[in-house]
Amino acid sequence: MRISPSILACDLSDIAAEINSVSEADYIHIDVMDGIFVPNISFGLPVIASARRRTAAVFDVHLMIDRPERYLSDFKKAGSDILTIHAESTSDPLRVIKEIRSLGMKSGIAIKPATPVSEILKCLPFADLVLVMTVEPGFGGQSIIKSCLKKATELQDLKRKNGYSYIIEADGGIDENNLPEVSASGVEVSVMGSAVYKIPIEKRNVKIAEFKKI
Ligand code: DX5
Ligand code: ZN
Repeated sequence: MRISPSILACDLSDIAAEINSVSEADYIHIDVMDGIFVPNISFGLPVIASARRRTAAVFDVHLMIDRPERYLSDFKKAGSDILTIHAESTSDPLRVIKEIRSLGMKSGIAIKPATPVSEILKCLPFADLVLVMTVEPGFGGQSIIKSCLKKATELQDLKRKNGYSYIIEADGGIDENNLPEVSASGVEVSVMGSAVYKIPIEKRNVKIAEFKKI
């Protein structure tokens, strides 16, 4: 299992220290919310650009914003490595993920709990990452909706049958207790917000190393 700690759950007044405290992680998950696509506002481009100056970690940026196509090159300039858009947030997600790749980033496509995999079939050949939301996007600290994990299994089958190269990520309510089940479903990258940042700062890397063995 690869781990992507979500900094939504960290102390944002000390973002560099909070990112460096999870240096064993594979990615850093960055949740951008606009108050329109989801009913919450988090942070945006200047915060990512500031963090970029303080770490070489791989930034896994999750856009929960309406019509993300308006800002793709800005997110590239701010230092995003993987840029994930929601299938529900734009009229032509295929065009948007192709553009993300052409800008030199890895492209991700996310689906909310009610959106089936069948909605994004034509995007799959052009996606480097598929994000299965296991809570309604908008807030950290919610409980996992386990029925969503079936979509990870479905995405593993499609990947094997068609030779696709995307990695499968799940996001929302993942913790130490449900991580084995998340892993068994076919998820390859687990986003963990509250479950990582509630751990005392000096113990986080040890715990992350344990999570990675699952
Ligand atoms: C929710 C965000 C998640 C959130 C996860 O909309 O996309 O990334 O930070 O937080 P936890 O792990 O606490 O559910
Ligand atoms: Zn997220």
